[in-house]
Amino acid sequence: MKKGFVLAIDGPAGAGKSTIAKLAAGKLGFAYIDTGAMYRAVTWKLLQTGEPFSPELAGKLANEIRITFRPENAINRVFVDGTEVTDAIRTAEVTGLVSKVAAVPEVRTAMVDQQRRMGAEGGIVMDGRDIGTVVFPDAQCKIFLTATVEERARRRGLELEAKGEKVDYKKLQEDIAFRDKQDSEREVSPLRQAEDAIYLDTSAMNIEQVTDKVLELVKEKQ
Ligand code: CDP
Ligand code: CDP
Repeated sequence: MKKGFVLAIDGPAGAGKSTIAKLAAGKLGFAYIDTGAMYRAVTWKLLQTGEPFSPELAGKLANEIRITFRPENAINRVFVDGTEVTDAIRTAEVTGLVSKVAAVPEVRTAMVDQQRRMGAEGGIVMDGRDIGTVVFPDAQCKIFLTATVEERARRRGLELEAKGEKVDYKKLQEDIAFRDKQDSEREVSPLRQAEDAIYLDTSAMNIEQVTDKVLELVKEKQ
């Protein structure tokens, strides 16, 4: 495997980025870095303070925070300043605020800096919204992974139902569409496809089919 190889996967919420990135990383023997978890971690830390959201507070916390990942079997455990937050960063409260936190320029500067350091050696799969456009514009392979909003809501809904939650699919779809809008319309590093990224609509593809396709695309670029 070529040293320094970066596989960048960007796309909207629920497209399957983290699932595919994790599986592809496993097959390639690469490390997986979930940048969404980092913005979620800053959001969690902000909520812990009990203070209302402000760009200043978010920026300050992003500069202080220490985020670490510990992959364990199929789970990518996440720690903030030594405390495990793997589940705590996935609550509806965090999900509802994260796009606002991620739009703060100081937050992005601090996270992108960390992401570049984490991926400096290559041999990584990194997923997010701005990996191919901003974090690693020279990544050897860039994929823009997407699916219709209906399909993405269906996938997320099934995931929540499996956890025993009752799902309002119409609201879930609205929430996802709203987050996509916030992520696409922000001024700094908006969600968009890099010019040299490969567009992959996975609406009619299962996890195995998408993983195989991604691995095939990586092979072509190696
Ligand atoms: O998994 P899901 O699609 O719900 O989102 P995520 O990947 O955990 O990302 C959560 C939020 O973090 C996104 O909605 C974006 O607002 C932000 N994010 C970002 O701005 N840039 C990234 N590279 C990754 C995530
Ligand atoms: O990271 P992102 O928000 O893009 O999506 P994810 O959390 O990886 O995937 C959302 C859900 O869709 C998970 O429950 C996956 O198992 C499922 N999924 C699927 O059913 N079919 C695919 N082709 C990809 C993901």
